[in-house]
Amino acid sequence: MESTAATNVAPVPEAEGKVEQNITPWEVESGESGIDYNKLIDQFGCTPIDEALLQRMERVTGKPVHPWLKRGLFFSHRALNEILDAAEAKQPFYLYTGRGPSSEALHLGHMIPFMFTKYLQDAFDVPLVIQMTDDEKFLWKDLTLEEAHRLTYENVKDIIAVGFDPRKTFIFSDLEYVGHMYPNIVKIQKCVTTSQVKAIFGFTDSDNIGKYAYPAVQAAPSFSSSFPHIFGRNSNVRCLIPCAIDQDPFFRMTRDVAPRIGFLKPAVIHSKFFPALQGPKTKMSASTPGSAIFMTDKPDEIKRKVAKYAFSGGRETVEEHRRLGGNCDVDVPYQYLSIFCFDDSKLNRIREEYSSGRMLTGEIKKELVDVLTPIVLEHQRARLAVTDEVVKTFLTPRRLEFGKN
Ligand code: TYM
Repeated sequence: MESTAATNVAPVPEAEGKVEQNITPWEVESGESGIDYNKLIDQFGCTPIDEALLQRMERVTGKPVHPWLKRGLFFSHRALNEILDAAEAKQPFYLYTGRGPSSEALHLGHMIPFMFTKYLQDAFDVPLVIQMTDDEKFLWKDLTLEEAHRLTYENVKDIIAVGFDPRKTFIFSDLEYVGHMYPNIVKIQKCVTTSQVKAIFGFTDSDNIGKYAYPAVQAAPSFSSSFPHIFGRNSNVRCLIPCAIDQDPFFRMTRDVAPRIGFLKPAVIHSKFFPALQGPKTKMSASTPGSAIFMTDKPDEIKRKVAKYAFSGGRETVEEHRRLGGNCDVDVPYQYLSIFCFDDSKLNRIREEYSSGRMLTGEIKKELVDVLTPIVLEHQRARLAVTDEVVKTFLTPRRLEFGKN
């Protein structure tokens, strides 16, 4: 495996009596004071993104890097430098990301990897494949297969609405496409033992056998020969995977297997988690509507949720707040603004005003509502324009055009 110290996703032990953080692809539990990302980097054995890497990315793409890189939302990677080497040498690579369709509506956190992937597709002019894991959600959740498959189609509309280029993007449902990847899936499965899968993902003897087989299905799109219509059956094109850090165990396993079956190891770029409205200790969940802003929310719902649920770093009384100022480090409205307010000078002004006590909690919440509402409304407008015909285009296995710019 990549690094023996980094293969296990067992909880990170903290000081005695404290809550342990436990991040797996299916569970995100933070410690007492939120998620410790430095600890995760150590535990998973990945590399922090530093200033030198960002400068190199700007040189290679000839464009400023995305604000989410500058602001540290995308904070860690595996072998991103190899992707930049390839781009510099004008060698091809492709992007791979995905979604597990377990709910009708996506929340703001789900949009992050897709919005970032769009930036990468535009900056590097590369093909993109998006895996819809209806099989995964059927195996893990209380969902019928038909419902998981239907949700794939609903979620695909949201993903297309992010603005991916149909000439360069292929989206697929595992249930429909898996046969094309099957040669690679069985090659991967032959390389990983039950005890390795247990150690990486924490499966137990009472988990169904579908779960044990699934990691190979999420690994397979990292290898270009899983897409013969795009790259050719005998291809070995480099791959970069944007995702939140919870998905890393899959790709740690994939990187370990790759050289043993003659394929290049995929590179990965990880984001932190976008927090729930109640703060980083609560998980955003489709079954708890007050925990997140959904892309289907109407303007008055956004306003109500922010007012009612967003955890405030403001003080008990106005007098105290004016004297001591708000705490931006824990204030959810500020945390959300630091991701979705792309205007640096506006964000700096809000930080100064709020932490000095000149701006009150109600005012920073209003700033947030004013930033989020047009983003959500624009998404709803774009989603309405995604017809069944458009969905069919993205889902049809076909040649893609890229590398002409
Ligand atoms: P899923 O559907 O749980 O999540 C989709 C993507 O969103 C990321 N994500 C978040 N990012 C920021 N803040 C959050 N609060 C947040 N919640 C979720 C996830 O990391 C993921 O990138 N098994 C996967 C589907 C999949 C996939 C992939 C994901 C298949 N192949 C390749 C990434 C890359 C899943 O169920 O994702």
